[in-house]
Amino acid sequence: MSARILTLPGDGIGPEVTAAAVAVLKSVAAHYGHAFEFDEQLLGGCAIDATGEPLPSATLAACADADAVLLGAVGGPRWSDPNARVRPEQGLLGLRAALGVYANLRPLRVHPALAAHSPLKDERVAGVDLLFVRELTGGAYFGRKSRDADSASDECRYSVAEIERVARRAFELARSRRGGLTSVDKANVLETSRLWRSTLDRLAGDYPDVQLEHQLVDSMAMLLLTQPARYDVIVTENLFGDILTDEAAALAGSLGLSPSASLGDGRRGLYEPIHGSAPDIAGRGIANPLGAILSAALLLRHSLGLEREASAVEAAVARVLAEGPRPRDLGGSADTIAVCDAVLVALAGRASAADMYADLANSCCG
Ligand code: NAD
Ligand code: IPM
Ligand code: MN
Repeated sequence: MSARILTLPGDGIGPEVTAAAVAVLKSVAAHYGHAFEFDEQLLGGCAIDATGEPLPSATLAACADADAVLLGAVGGPRWSDPNARVRPEQGLLGLRAALGVYANLRPLRVHPALAAHSPLKDERVAGVDLLFVRELTGGAYFGRKSRDADSASDECRYSVAEIERVARRAFELARSRRGGLTSVDKANVLETSRLWRSTLDRLAGDYPDVQLEHQLVDSMAMLLLTQPARYDVIVTENLFGDILTDEAAALAGSLGLSPSASLGDGRRGLYEPIHGSAPDIAGRGIANPLGAILSAALLLRHSLGLEREASAVEAAVARVLAEGPRPRDLGGSADTIAVCDAVLVALAGRASAADMYADLANSCCG
């Protein structure tokens, strides 16, 4: 098939991990006979430097032309002055709103080879297989903001329609998995959460095969550490989802491993690792590219409908996690390019260089 993929590498480690994800997509195209066309545009701090705006109109126009958008990360200390007129993160939020990608899927599995690397005990993380569905275009992120000399506010607002569409997506995903749906809110305090909860309860009638339960966000934060394997699909509002998914990513071994897919009603999606621009390691070539590579797998699955290819990329990543080399955030010493190369080798089904030398040695001596 042919597809147009727009990349927005962004700032910090964004370009480093995006390059790895693009290399994997090019390899998929070559192996499976697809024609992927790549375009690259500015978003975030690099866009502010070049144009004065975090989301230039050329970037938006290129999004409209693309079948899928692959993003690295935006932001960094250079653009973090609290008094700045524009911020890189505004570009990202504007992009999510413009694309109408209200459902942010953040899958999270603990690879057995990484269990020892989790901050939790092995037996706690065994079998963890979660799918977070984070509402992405509403809530406090997009409400009216105010600021004067001695006060500030961020309005958190949700409409029934906004809750319904993301909730239906979560019910459907739960139905296609193990049938469990946990809705996370703060209904003991927040009015938006009470609307959220009653909307979910009403919709549950349409999904009798899904087991819906509610959990308050503070206890959910605790339960993710004590019983993570108990949960299947977890749906929640924008800000709670942001926080809980970084927590869950750490539980799986590292933030650098976690991918995401942001989807709306159509096929076009926005794909990005959940980590940020990691200014502390940017420019050193040591970032973990696996979250970005797994985001590319989600792109293949959700926007291009290429399930076989998506699974092949995920299997290649799983093999690298099992056999190495490992990036530094997972306790190894491999740099970004070495990890990416290992994924490419696994994807091509070739033995790694080390295996080939071992085979050669055996045949010489045997
Ligand atoms: P961060 O995710 O950038 O980094 C947190 C920690 O995780 C750092 O120690 C970093 O080195 C490490 N880390 C993150 N990704 C890694 C990877 N792939 N490999 C190895 N280590 C990795 O979070 P932060 O430091 O709080 O934020 C930095 C900037 O990134 C901020 O400007 C923030 O707004 C932005 N941000 C952007 C996105 C995005 O564009 N989607 C997401 C989160 C944060
Ligand atoms: C994420 C990030 C963003 C968010 C920031 C950079 C706006 O933390 O994608 O998780 O809060 O959504
Ligand atoms: Mn986040």
